[in-house]
Amino acid sequence: MKIILIGFMGSGKTSVAGRLAKKLGLKSIDMDELILKSSGFKSINEIFEKKGEKSFRAMELVVARKLADADNMVISTGGGVVMSKQIMDPLSKNSMVIYLKLRFDNARKRVYQKKIRPPLFQDNNETKKLFNKREPLYTSYSDIIIDTHNMGINEVLENIIVKLRKGKNGRE
Ligand code: S3P
Repeated sequence: MKIILIGFMGSGKTSVAGRLAKKLGLKSIDMDELILKSSGFKSINEIFEKKGEKSFRAMELVVARKLADADNMVISTGGGVVMSKQIMDPLSKNSMVIYLKLRFDNARKRVYQKKIRPPLFQDNNETKKLFNKREPLYTSYSDIIIDTHNMGINEVLENIIVKLRKGKNGRE
């Protein structure tokens, strides 16, 4: 089984991927980490600063293509993958795509707790626009939507497991 977690920055993709993989006996992989490993940069922010967003997206595409035939894996994606069909096509091949949905204010709260803010979460108004633009894309790419509002990670995991059991067509 190949599971892809999508959602905006701060939606908990990385933490959920690790915990879900453990529960299901799968491996978990974080796309941003893979990009960092292969790029030699210390942080995603450094890539954006020194190379720009376009280069970052090109690196994201390389990683997405490598993951096309991945199996037995839970993949935590970067929040921007849905902006590119070129990236989403290989990434979502033969997979269950789970959208971790959250409200913008909660995304902001979560991200602002971190020491370093992601490059695309600097200007609140711009980020809100990005959020609104991406929301329908996350929805359209997803096989499963988990509205994480007011949920702790355990509840999120339980909901995912229940919905995974039902499969893509919603039947047990
Ligand atoms: C991005 C989200 C980040 C990272 C990069 C771009 C985005 O990942 O890939 O900063 O465009 O939303 P997370 O969603 O894991 O924070």
